[in-house]
Amino acid sequence: MSGVFIANNESINLASKIIQNGGLVAFPTETVYGLGANVYNSKAVASIFEAKGRPRFNPLISHIAEIDFLKEYALTDQRVFALGRRFWPGPLTFVLKRIDNNPALDLACAGLKTVTVRMPNHQVALDLIKKSGVPIVAPSANKSQTISPTTAEHVFESLGSNVDMILDGGACSVGVESTIIDLTEKNVVMLRAGGVSKEELEDFLNEKVLISHGNPDMPSSPGQLLRHYAPSHPLRINATQKQDDEFFIGFGCVNECDLNLSPSGDLKEAAAHLFSFMRLADSQTKYNKIAIAPIPQIGLGRAINDRILRASYQK
Ligand code: TXA
Ligand code: MG
Repeated sequence: MSGVFIANNESINLASKIIQNGGLVAFPTETVYGLGANVYNSKAVASIFEAKGRPRFNPLISHIAEIDFLKEYALTDQRVFALGRRFWPGPLTFVLKRIDNNPALDLACAGLKTVTVRMPNHQVALDLIKKSGVPIVAPSANKSQTISPTTAEHVFESLGSNVDMILDGGACSVGVESTIIDLTEKNVVMLRAGGVSKEELEDFLNEKVLISHGNPDMPSSPGQLLRHYAPSHPLRINATQKQDDEFFIGFGCVNECDLNLSPSGDLKEAAAHLFSFMRLADSQTKYNKIAIAPIPQIGLGRAINDRILRASYQK
């Protein structure tokens, strides 16, 4: 069976059976749609990599529905639980030292000594995890290195019959992936900017959060690959004016844009629109290039700029 199902009790029950039996279910989260499998079923986890065409070295995020579950998986401390209680459920992912030696987890962790965990803020995702009775590993539900999906249709377009079931829970409210922080050392290090801003983290922790610039050829977080989240049309950033062959995505008060991420300059609204607008721009036949207006490098703007910069990178 495959196809798109409106998320309700019945379809979530069915989806949980698919997860338990080693199948793949795409499901909504507040950030982007995830392509989910039972974390303990290596074969199912392997089929995620296959369906996405994703390089094997890339570790996956486990999605959990209860904070106490962390203790079974990972070395925890007060800081981990404090952050979890403040930001979960929500778009924040922790990289933690792994304590579970279960070899079934090796593939999901890509052989690393860390596990990566978050609790999504979406009722459909939480119900699915609870009903499945296992953590669900899920990368974004798109082909590797393409634009992340923020609707069920995006998933269908990208992965189609490679998925056993797609749960449709509407458009994602945040629209960019979760922020990933490494909590394995004394300093908190941000590996990927995302739905929770550096400022929010620093306010809560009362300390500086370091930003990992990584080595793009040997990323500890492959979201750090230079070309990532990429449309097929070339993308020009910091554009202030549309050129004839360009589909122009604006922000704030710009004139003559084809679409505006947020006419009022609201970064939250812009993040929620980003991926679907990039997809729309990429599907235009009239234009073979895309241009995007400058986005301020504050708060969620950092996550947006990170995605745009990678999408614009040309080898
Ligand atoms: O918002 C999200 O995080 C979405 C939804 C579905 O939850 N998921 C998502 O997963 O974006 P994915 O696989 O597309 O991106 C996860 C990123 C990858 O770049 C991966 O390399 C990095 O997290 N990552 C995972 N485990 C890691 C680890 N142990 N150390 C460093 N980076 C890790
Ligand atoms: Mg992804």
